[in-house]
Amino acid sequence: MSNGGPDTLITEEEIHKRVTDFAEQISRDYAGEGEIVLIGILKGAFILLADLSRRLTVSHRVEFMAVSSYGQSSVSTGAVRLIMDLRGDIENKHVLIVEDIVDTGHTLHYLVSLLKTRRPASLRTCALVRKSDRAEVDVEIDYLGFDIPDVWVVGYGLDYAEQYRTLPYIGVLPPETTPSSET
Ligand code: PRP
Repeated sequence: MSNGGPDTLITEEEIHKRVTDFAEQISRDYAGEGEIVLIGILKGAFILLADLSRRLTVSHRVEFMAVSSYGQSSVSTGAVRLIMDLRGDIENKHVLIVEDIVDTGHTLHYLVSLLKTRRPASLRTCALVRKSDRAEVDVEIDYLGFDIPDVWVVGYGLDYAEQYRTLPYIGVLPPETTPSSET
């Protein structure tokens, strides 16, 4: 605890370095390929999407989708529901899904399966953090920031009861303040 907020798991500097690395790698990987469609998954990905998109040197546009995995519960049932779809079609486009966190993997797995049916030219995934110990389904993450332990993380888009999303670092909430199972 350095600032009166949650304990730091990943510092602001570490995040910015990793996002800059992502942006360089993505810009290299897609060079000459035409426009990328970045799809931010609401709500948590809005900060990463903002930082990542501003560092890309290749042509891109920003779109959003919203899904709900848990309804009112904090425990994953594995059932993912589409809340808000894309406005346009992605056929023959290069698509990059941008997530803040991959926990059980159900959300990203659902999104990849859904978007593949729309015949994009390519489909890749990016996530800032992954709790690999919690994986229930295998899902490939092409650009991964950090593997983290099974703790309740907040900040940089991640919330607890809608709080902490704008914390500039990724912090950990003590287990006694959070439900026992979570994203
Ligand atoms: C988080 C995160 C992912 C999902 C990952 O969203 O942004 O979309 O959970 O969990 P999974 O791998 O177990 O499926 P959340 O439902 O917390 O919504 P939010 O982004 O609006 O906070």
